[in-house]
Amino acid sequence: MSGKPCKEFLLTRRSIRKFKKDDVPTELLLEAIDIARFAPSARNGQPWEYVVVKDRERREKLAQIHRWARYAAEAPVAIVVLADTKLAPDSYVIDGSLAAMYLWLALHCLGLGAVWLHTVPAADRVREIVGAPEHLYPVALFAVGYPDEKPEPKPRKPLSEIVHLESYGNRLKA
Ligand SMILES: Cc1cc2nc3c(=O)[nH]c(=O)nc-3n(C[C@H](O)[C@H](O)[C@H](O)COP(=O)(O)O)c2cc1C
Repeated sequence: MSGKPCKEFLLTRRSIRKFKKDDVPTELLLEAIDIARFAPSARNGQPWEYVVVKDRERREKLAQIHRWARYAAEAPVAIVVLADTKLAPDSYVIDGSLAAMYLWLALHCLGLGAVWLHTVPAADRVREIVGAPEHLYPVALFAVGYPDEKPEPKPRKPLSEIVHLESYGNRLKA
């Protein structure tokens, strides 16, 4: 892959919060998860599992975990990314987050839109709603569907604010 399409791909991922009503074929969702399997993980432990939720009632419960999670009910699909705390006790949050990010990129790659919905304040409730066992930590919940909006990119910090050359404090000139 040349640099240009790859850069374009990465720069055009957005949080999508408006979705078409159309159902998303399960095969397409599985294709995204199939790609997400290639996320890196400590010792290649792959301590992740995914729960794909299309059922409206269950999505409505997920949408109520906090006020910013309502998109789980407004999208046709929700996906919970679970990280196995037993399999990777010292890296499950990192491995799980990488799996979630790969999934988000894979969905974008396949023409689907998604938004990551915070699970940390309601981890027990998310686990309960999808029936996951205690040792699986829900690192992320995604609302997924065909995008019905094209949001502008959100502002990003300039390099001069975030890069240090050689040692901390030696910032790039603005
Ligand atoms: C850990 C995490 C939690 C987030 N939680 C929410 C959320 O609960 N609700 C929401 O609408 N967006 C949520 N987002 C999406 C962010 O608001 C979004 O990624 C950020 O504003 C940058 O916009 P962009 O994704 O379009 O680049 C979350 C993103 C991350 C990475």
